Amino acid sequence: MPFRTIIEPFRIKSVEAIKFTAREDREKALREAGFNVFLLHAEDVLIDLLTDSGTGAMSAAQWGALMRGDESYAGSRSFYRFRDVVQDLTGFRHIIPTHQGRAAERILFHTVLKPGLAVPNNNHFDTTRANVEVEGCEALDLVIPEGRIPDRIHPFKGNVDTAALERLLLQRGDEVPLVMVTVTNNTGGGQPVSLANLRAVRELCDRFRKPLFLDACRFAENAYFIKLREPGQESRTPKEIAREMFSLADGATFSAKKDGLANIGGFLAMNDEAWAEQARNLLILTEGFPTYGGLAGYDLEAIAQGLTEVVEEPYLRYRIRSTEYLAEKLTGAGVPIIQPAGGHAVYIDARGLLPHIPPLAYPGIALVNALYLEAGIRGVEIGTVMFGRRPDGTEAAPPMDLVRLAIPRRVYTQSHIDYVAEAVIAVAGAKERLAGYRIVSAPAVLRHFTARFVARRPE
Ligand code: F0G
Repeated sequence: MPFRTIIEPFRIKSVEAIKFTAREDREKALREAGFNVFLLHAEDVLIDLLTDSGTGAMSAAQWGALMRGDESYAGSRSFYRFRDVVQDLTGFRHIIPTHQGRAAERILFHTVLKPGLAVPNNNHFDTTRANVEVEGCEALDLVIPEGRIPDRIHPFKGNVDTAALERLLLQRGDEVPLVMVTVTNNTGGGQPVSLANLRAVRELCDRFRKPLFLDACRFAENAYFIKLREPGQESRTPKEIAREMFSLADGATFSAKKDGLANIGGFLAMNDEAWAEQARNLLILTEGFPTYGGLAGYDLEAIAQGLTEVVEEPYLRYRIRSTEYLAEKLTGAGVPIIQPAGGHAVYIDARGLLPHIPPLAYPGIALVNALYLEAGIRGVEIGTVMFGRRPDGTEAAPPMDLVRLAIPRRVYTQSHIDYVAEAVIAVAGAKERLAGYRIVSAPAVLRHFTARFVARRPE
């Protein structure tokens, strides 16, 4: 079509009201939540950008598929439909359903790791890192140097630093049981990995005889970025590109809560027979029988349908454009963000925006809380509170203090996003008024979920 406006490629059949609150309601709610937006009641949030995980809207076809769910304990028809769709997309021999991504990670790592080993990745997501470390192993982040500089533009900022990977495999190859690549690279800003980079990683894996696994949560967004940005890929379909991405790997972990377009679910997939058998035995111990893996039959149906919708081009065009649209508005107003926009989220550089709040006074929390107080928007700090506590209890600033605004799939319209942009720009315009926070109580691990704060001066 000759028109430039990219529209939502759906119409809306069912709606859910969102609750408008007054500023004093939000002040009260946030105070009661210890100034930690994880502890808010979601009902008190107007626009919830905490995560894109499990928060998407299912299609009418997915809701319809739920009714086809076969709830047989073993050998359910829904499992075979799910397996066939995943196999068609990924080509992997063994498809093991799990209740979400981290269950697939736990089972994979418990199967292949033993203490003292190391797993390289572009950037580990926090649960991936935790599941490596809990086995007594080291999680190494080997993203390219450009991937660590917020305002540096690069088309594939999620790429693996292949020289660093080669050095690792030469020096400590015996300690590396597998190589992982996260597509798109969430912790690095939702940035894609190119096919050329995946091929180069594959070559290294062949040379050093290491299996390659994808953390494929956002594989479809990654495939579409390849179509848009990688020379020679523009006339292929996202599905063809995704198939090639998977064909370069020996297995994958997957959270269906992202590019499965489902509210729950995941899988572990691989070619290796012996590892798959061990993984299935572990699955039975904690998740369930291998034909349901902790999911209902209807969840398997919803995922199977979601995986066919997520690679459709009109959906991906809208998806990638709507994130970029928010990024453009913020950049245009001078709000510093990780450039370019990620697939699923915009990451505001809170440390860059709020230089008067030192990292140990949590600029990310200051910005997240201001967005909630001013506009009822919930984002998430990815910075000193999330990553700054060392095992000995002391604190150190990680490389960046970011605030992630993650966009749920097919949930918010363009005017919601206009509202978000207006609110962020207004908060950024009055940034001198924002003050830092102090932690009053926090658990030793994963403190960001439940820490309680006080403002360094009254709001
Ligand atoms: N890998 C990546 C890259 C992720 O982003 C996530 C989840 C997981 C693994 C784990 O999957 O939640 O199904 O167990 N990311 C969510 C987020 C929680 O908000 O980014 P899960």
